[in-house]
Amino acid sequence: MAGGGTANTRYATVAVALHWVLAVLALSMVPVGWWMGDAIQDNDTRAQALTVFPLHKATGMTILALTALRLVWRLTHAPPPLPARMAGWERTLAGATHGLFYGLLFALPLSGWIYASAGWSEAFKMFIDVPTSWFGLFNIPHVPGIAALDEDLRRDVGETAMDVHSKLAWAMLILAGLHVAAALKHHFVDRDDVLARMVPFLKPKA
Ligand code: HEM
Repeated sequence: MAGGGTANTRYATVAVALHWVLAVLALSMVPVGWWMGDAIQDNDTRAQALTVFPLHKATGMTILALTALRLVWRLTHAPPPLPARMAGWERTLAGATHGLFYGLLFALPLSGWIYASAGWSEAFKMFIDVPTSWFGLFNIPHVPGIAALDEDLRRDVGETAMDVHSKLAWAMLILAGLHVAAALKHHFVDRDDVLARMVPFLKPKA
């Protein structure tokens, strides 16, 4: 009989904590990003937007650091095995989804960081160089090399980075939808323990 806390039926506490912290942070960044991009252009909301921009940047850099930690953890700790009856295509799709999540959790903050480093404002179509501060405690340097580029190139880097940033946010929402749908299918249709491995208060059914 599989006990609720059996080490190899669930993800370890560190993996579960990183999963949920990153899920909440990364998904909440998307509406915040959309809002602040509009709010900065409106006289009535500009002051609020100016307090939210640095929070978005600092939270995004935190996501980058936590994702690096999570990848190191994942590479050094094997996940619990998937249910034996899962088909090959399901395993491949699950693996691809998880790999893409890692890619997005790196690429989203990196594109934001490159944008901030270019010092180009898409809202005002001009250069506004703002340092990236980690919640007021210390400054995070710009991505090396960008400040030395000539202005045309720097603007191109900024515009492209924000275009990528914006599209990747949509990609992450779509992937998250697929991921949640798959988790719910496992739980309610296949009635296996895939969801319980990542949700501490769900009892394994086996
Ligand atoms: C997982 C991490 C992140 C997510 C999900 C995210 C998401 C978003 C989204 C959805 C937008 C709105 C884009 C649009 O208007 O279509 C945005 C804007 C922005 N992001 Fe991020 N972001 C992340 C990390 C970062 C980081 C690390 C930085 C900088 C260090 C950053 C800097 C910005 C800036 C400055 C804008 C506003 C662009 C402007 O209007 O000037 N983001 N973000």
